[in-house]
Amino acid sequence: MTGQEINRDVWKQAASEAAAQLVEDDMLVGLGTGSTAAFFIQALARRMQQGLRIAGTISSSLASQELAQSLHIPITDFATHPSLDIYIDGADEIDSQLNLVKGGGGALLREKIVASASRRFVVIADQLKLVQRLGQSFALPIEAIPFAAPLVSRKLTNLGATVKLRGGSTTPFITDNHNVILDCTFADGILDPAALDEQLHHVVGIVETGLFLGMAQQALIGGPHGVQVLP
Ligand code: 5RP
Repeated sequence: MTGQEINRDVWKQAASEAAAQLVEDDMLVGLGTGSTAAFFIQALARRMQQGLRIAGTISSSLASQELAQSLHIPITDFATHPSLDIYIDGADEIDSQLNLVKGGGGALLREKIVASASRRFVVIADQLKLVQRLGQSFALPIEAIPFAAPLVSRKLTNLGATVKLRGGSTTPFITDNHNVILDCTFADGILDPAALDEQLHHVVGIVETGLFLGMAQQALIGGPHGVQVLP
């Protein structure tokens, strides 16, 4: 592990610890996916050991649910609790408006579902995730129905993207929802995220995009000087 990777983990952990302090007794909590979200789940378990009672959690991936279960964090579902108090998750890119690119871990569909069912969405990340423009440093993940993937891929190319099937054609990455991920790079980044998202939602075969626009209310950003709270 390089020095920068070690720092990034320290910064992710600091943001996660700060997010765990936002959880109050009897809350329903959405659990994100990825390394930062895993730090948060561990921090939440530590708070529970110190006496915090939570009403239940819903995870945005099977991996996070397994981690939560292994730490004795209570699990619920949308049939029992259709609305959550808070959703805490990482991101791949964060712009100044708290618009996000997510899906690096392939969980973007469930992440968007859990975010949309939560009254408050707080993003946790290290400061290297902050960008001037989305799509600058990370390819935009798009979840697509496997049957339609070749057609979707062509349409994405026509929209100006360079498209890669995650995992490659012989061993494609399969999501928790049995779909594939198309990672899309745009030469100059994403100039108009809302317009692109609108276009993508009209492509038959796309299940969801990794653009999370106007969904996050707050970001906790770990860096060398501690945790910055945005906005
Ligand atoms: C998973 C995600 C993650 O939140 C995103 O990839 C960030 O991951 P990490 O915390 O490991 O950097 O969107 O689908």
